[in-house]
Amino acid sequence: MRLQDCHNFNDFRLLAKKRLPSPVFNYIDGAADDEKTYERNTASFDDVDLIPNVLRGVADVDLSVEIFGQKIDMPLYCSPTALQRLFHFDGERAVARAATKFGTMFGVSALATVSVEEISEISSGPKMFQFYFHKDRGLNDSCMERAKAAGFDVLALTVDTITGGNRERDLRTGFTSPPKFTLESVLSYMLKPAWAINYLTKEKFSLPHLDKYVAEGTNTATSIGSYFSTMLDQNMNWNDAETLCSKWGGHFALKGIMSVDDAKKAVDIGCTGIIVSNHGGRQLDGSRAPFDQLEEIVDAVGDKLDVICEGGIQRGSHVLKALSVGAKACAGGRLYLNALAAAGQPGVERALSLLRTEIERDMKLMGYTKISELGPHNLRRR
Ligand SMILES: Cc1cc2nc3c(=O)[nH]c(=O)nc-3n(C[C@H](O)[C@H](O)[C@H](O)COP(=O)(O)O)c2cc1C
Repeated sequence: MRLQDCHNFNDFRLLAKKRLPSPVFNYIDGAADDEKTYERNTASFDDVDLIPNVLRGVADVDLSVEIFGQKIDMPLYCSPTALQRLFHFDGERAVARAATKFGTMFGVSALATVSVEEISEISSGPKMFQFYFHKDRGLNDSCMERAKAAGFDVLALTVDTITGGNRERDLRTGFTSPPKFTLESVLSYMLKPAWAINYLTKEKFSLPHLDKYVAEGTNTATSIGSYFSTMLDQNMNWNDAETLCSKWGGHFALKGIMSVDDAKKAVDIGCTGIIVSNHGGRQLDGSRAPFDQLEEIVDAVGDKLDVICEGGIQRGSHVLKALSVGAKACAGGRLYLNALAAAGQPGVERALSLLRTEIERDMKLMGYTKISELGPHNLRRR
């Protein structure tokens, strides 16, 4: 199987599985507990159907939308995800370049392996910095100041990782960051020699936003669960979020909002957007899918801030359904991460290109030329 053979999400997933050592693949592919929420995130899109109109002259379709005061050329952007250089040696550089080429936004994680300064040199496009609220306030100030100085357009505070989700696949494979080559795990790395050679011979792994502040340095192998549980401030509350929002002074979003109450509070503290998300099913298993919860949230706050629907998106039609409910745009992680692991920048470009083509084709088949024409009128629940 080669990149040219990848035509959809599952093809990229299979190629990623072939290329990555099992602990790394399962870190991307896995979720919390029984992974019920993870499954539902995608399955929820199947409970509604699109109703097309015909004979409407659809030769020229405009896929652009405006979010956080920025125009993006397609209504789907790359969610911030951690540790990308473990998936491919180009890591965030590959994703930043691909997102820029497609005129869409790139979210850079606080746990990125390439610095905000370097990303802003690579990418002139719209950029989001994903912020974790650490106990160490010096680290928080440093992250915010660096993202601001690097010209990032949006700060997204992740609010659904107050403690680590129970990712049983990571427990089984012993996944840590950076990878720990123990006797048990070394075999899974040896089985993928191309990955291992790249990992060992290319630039040394680091977490440039954290490394000056983490006492042990970021070379100490740690699980993501223990990072959330030990380094993040579990007392984070609405006052903290409000303070961060005003300190940032620009477009500010809460990432991981699922209740109407919280969506309304986000408006009250001055957020300009919310990302309706359950962290790709990686945190609270048994929680609702973003698409299932979207309508309630859009009805409550959709005219007051930008509502983004994130999680489980694998098809252009999923994006059309979320936009029809009232999301301003969609975002996804695994939809580009598998492609990054499969083939680096060309992989991410192919994934974004296929999704853009699907969105455009589906818009034409729906009889629409502008995203703003989509609405609840063209959806029916089964
Ligand atoms: C491998 C991986 C790493 C992630 N790292 C982060 C992160 O560092 N910060 C964050 O806010 N969300 C992180 N997420 C969650 C994504 O931003 C996003 O919410 C999720 O991937 C959406 O679900 P999807 O993968 O089904 O599209 C991560 C997700 C994955 C799959």
